[in-house]
Amino acid sequence: MAFVERVFSGVQPTGNLHLGNYLGAIVNFVKMQETHNCIYCVVDMHAITMPTDVWGGPEGLARATREVTAAFIAAGIDPKKHIVFNQSQVSGHAELTWIFNCVARVGWLNRMTQFKEKAGKDRENASVGLYDYPVLMAADILLYRATHVPVGEDQKQHLELARDIAQKFNNDFGDSIRKTGFGDGLFFPLPEPMITGPATRVMSLRDGTKKMSKSDASDYSRINLTDDADTIAQKVRKAKTDPEPLPSEEKGLEARPEADNLVGIYAALSNRSKADVLREFGGGQFSGFKNALVELCVAKLAPIAGEMKRLTADPAYVDSVLVDGADRARAIAAETMQATRDIVGFIGKR
Ligand code: TRP
Repeated sequence: MAFVERVFSGVQPTGNLHLGNYLGAIVNFVKMQETHNCIYCVVDMHAITMPTDVWGGPEGLARATREVTAAFIAAGIDPKKHIVFNQSQVSGHAELTWIFNCVARVGWLNRMTQFKEKAGKDRENASVGLYDYPVLMAADILLYRATHVPVGEDQKQHLELARDIAQKFNNDFGDSIRKTGFGDGLFFPLPEPMITGPATRVMSLRDGTKKMSKSDASDYSRINLTDDADTIAQKVRKAKTDPEPLPSEEKGLEARPEADNLVGIYAALSNRSKADVLREFGGGQFSGFKNALVELCVAKLAPIAGEMKRLTADPAYVDSVLVDGADRARAIAAETMQATRDIVGFIGKR
């Protein structure tokens, strides 16, 4: 069976979005629109797997859901040509998760490193939802039978699990898939991760060995997507560097995490390779490069912040985008769910 090439990806509505989310995910989402049918989901059901204070309770969740949606639109995602919605509006995500819970094995989930990190020392007290998080993620993707999934490096293991679940479902129900006429034993595609771009890992501006993070105590460690031009300029000027001039070749960035990070950010924002950026700035002092970086960051990011501000002031419009996207998502999901119920042997129509 040939699958339509379809992209699905999700972003959690927890706290502020920053340059790491933008370069690691959203920029790729924008690019994929030219070549694929895309579905971009604000995964509010994933957000509630952590304790309420992490996602800010009901008001924080609703605010963050609108903020991620605004960031998608401000960055250039077209919600008319593609689909933008929040996960909880389409009940198929939860329904398919249950079926996949019965396909996935406890042993598979026990190997997930992100659960171990997020649960921390007090694993007994983690939510069952946090443990099941990767199964919900597999359901997100396979509910639309998506074939390509742009994600950060840290989601690779979850994508492998989604492939394992798709394959085991296709195997376990192979005869039924053939009998019900849903293909020659291949009902779910095995989704491919797409980990691309020179800055899939954006590091802290204060410490080039740590990931840029919304939970870092210092706001100077990150550029928030809502920062205005002055704030962006100030943060880039204060970013940590080392006393050496910039190298002329990429291998000169080894063991210089701060220089590597800033060159990576410049490359990603200007759509060039790091090698190319170093051909221009190599041998020069950091100050000259930083001036250029300030200019580039402000030029690329300040308009997004401005547009996000405008959209945040109009929640009715943002909500209408999510309702319209959910209607279109539900239509695709309904087909997958009806076929899946037939394949499993759940009788009746819904
Ligand atoms: N777990 C992903 C992250 O934290 C978010 C996510 C949820 C996702 N469902 C998805 C990403 C489906 C890709 C596809 O980044």
